[in-house]
Amino acid sequence: MCGIVGYIGPRDAFPVLIKGLKQLEYRGYDSAGVALLNGSLETFRKKGKVADLEAFVEGKSPAGKVGIGHTRWATHGEPNDVNAHPHTSMNGIFSLVHNGIIENYAKLKSDLSEQGYVFKSETDTEVLANLIEYFYRQDEEMTSEDAVQLALSKVVGAYGIAVLCANEKEKIVVARKGSPLAIGLGVNEYFIASDALPIAEYTQQVIYLNDEDIAVLQRAGCTLKNVRNNPVSLTISNLDLEIGALDKGGFEHFMLKEIYEQPLTLEETFRGRLRNDHSEIVLGGLLDVFPKLEQAGRIIIIGCGTSWHAALIGEYLIEEYAQTPVEVEYASEFRYRNPVIGEKDVVILISQSGETADTLAALRLAKEKGATVLGICNVAGSSLARETDAGVYTHAGVEVGVASTKAFTAQVAVLTMIALQLAKRKETIDAETYRMLVKELSETPAKGRLILESNKKIAAIAEKYKEAVNALYLGRGYLFPVALEGALKLKEISYVHAEGYAAGEMKHGPIALIDDNLPVIVVAPQDAYYEKVVSNIQEVKARKGNVIAVVTEGDTGLHEMVNDVIEIPRSHLAVAPLLAVIPLQLLAYHIAVLKGCDVDRPRNLAKSVTVE
Ligand code: G6P
Repeated sequence: MCGIVGYIGPRDAFPVLIKGLKQLEYRGYDSAGVALLNGSLETFRKKGKVADLEAFVEGKSPAGKVGIGHTRWATHGEPNDVNAHPHTSMNGIFSLVHNGIIENYAKLKSDLSEQGYVFKSETDTEVLANLIEYFYRQDEEMTSEDAVQLALSKVVGAYGIAVLCANEKEKIVVARKGSPLAIGLGVNEYFIASDALPIAEYTQQVIYLNDEDIAVLQRAGCTLKNVRNNPVSLTISNLDLEIGALDKGGFEHFMLKEIYEQPLTLEETFRGRLRNDHSEIVLGGLLDVFPKLEQAGRIIIIGCGTSWHAALIGEYLIEEYAQTPVEVEYASEFRYRNPVIGEKDVVILISQSGETADTLAALRLAKEKGATVLGICNVAGSSLARETDAGVYTHAGVEVGVASTKAFTAQVAVLTMIALQLAKRKETIDAETYRMLVKELSETPAKGRLILESNKKIAAIAEKYKEAVNALYLGRGYLFPVALEGALKLKEISYVHAEGYAAGEMKHGPIALIDDNLPVIVVAPQDAYYEKVVSNIQEVKARKGNVIAVVTEGDTGLHEMVNDVIEIPRSHLAVAPLLAVIPLQLLAYHIAVLKGCDVDRPRNLAKSVTVE
């Protein structure tokens, strides 16, 4: 939710900022802007994507070695030029970029209005810019960092900010609470970004700010204090990021590249964890906490969006094999009800980014109530990774497409490994089944590659259904969450209304929607539920619905019954989600492309939702 960048050092800041903003565009693309300190403060802002800002700035030669930038996902105020960041304080002393929400902005705004402040935008950020200026002007001795600290001590809400002061030409002040911020350390230069991606190209040394930290960056060095004005010591971490990760690698979109990467990312997720002889799963990050998991009276899995769908599959797997009761919760619900959680509970938080505000709030609540908190996360060094007691990285690599694909399969792979290993330790699975399932897991990358060979066929099916305005996705058992995920993919990137349903529930509502315009995508491999799903298909066909079925290869029986068929290799039911989701991702992708949608940056969405 909004991306922030900053630079101070010997280079021209503008190209560094623009490049960084492009890498953060997945966090929001309603507007973009930069401010540069070059004698005076100069600001360029434009509604739309970073490319629109670039076009706007062309011929204006923006200069300066110190600057900040922002790509926006709108919270307060519609996406337009005036609401775009950076925001300048009324007397032009401060320029501010902000990711987060200032919850008490209305009160602060009215207090500042009484002091004569006038506002140009509808944003909470402009209020903060003016509040900083207000404190700065109270005392001639005041530094910008002191003014920032005083202002932030009055703020309720979440922020990641970078601040320039027109009177202090060689300085950037940054601070965070709730919204992520990383600082890259170069030689006499610093790079600021909402995540480490834009930094990786320049340096491997980063400081991840903690909540309420304020950092002052000058070419000569960096100092840290907190909102209560106490000094804080610096912790420098080492980055381990592939720079090439942001390349589309010859694909038209990041999303397609990431769908195609799944066999490889599954191999990465399994690397070093699945023994070659299928005798053991080693999850190093959980070794110390496995006894807690074994003794847990209950496991609660929490996430948002796609991560929540992965959690549902985790529930089915853990209950089936490890026989531990599992509950799955939306983070946004969990955090605001009064959940009964105790020391015997283990809470697993799932998040690709590790920065989703609701998931982090749920983590903190569970921790506060004494539960053991574990993370399944893709981004090393993220807040979730740092705040959980232990966890497992998904190792899916950087995911840029806003609609999650490879992160989902990696999450499900991790959950499957946890379920099987827990079952083994609890002795709720026999050795033969365990070994067979580990072998099945190890075969999913190769089977995934076979599914990708159907891409052209799936594109042709998409062509037939590209005008659909609604779609229904059905599945049972482990494949019910896959139906939910397939529907979410279509909804997110093609703006077609789509619903995922447990196939058995269809007769309790969605059946009323079926007519000859409605595509019904049924995930129907030959598994324990096969006969039941076939009955559901017949119910759809009897009402003239168009059925696209995802079936086990060689299942010719279904070919005659349905309109379109996508085959996937035979696999055990427990690993089928890792395979069955791939054709659904491709179908959504092709429909969105055919409709001319911006697949990697769908409207109104952001990849990392760092506000509630
Ligand atoms: C946003 C993204 C989704 C993602 C969800 C949770 O809505 O658009 O793709 O599934 O956030 O994100 P997380 O990083 O916590 O997995």
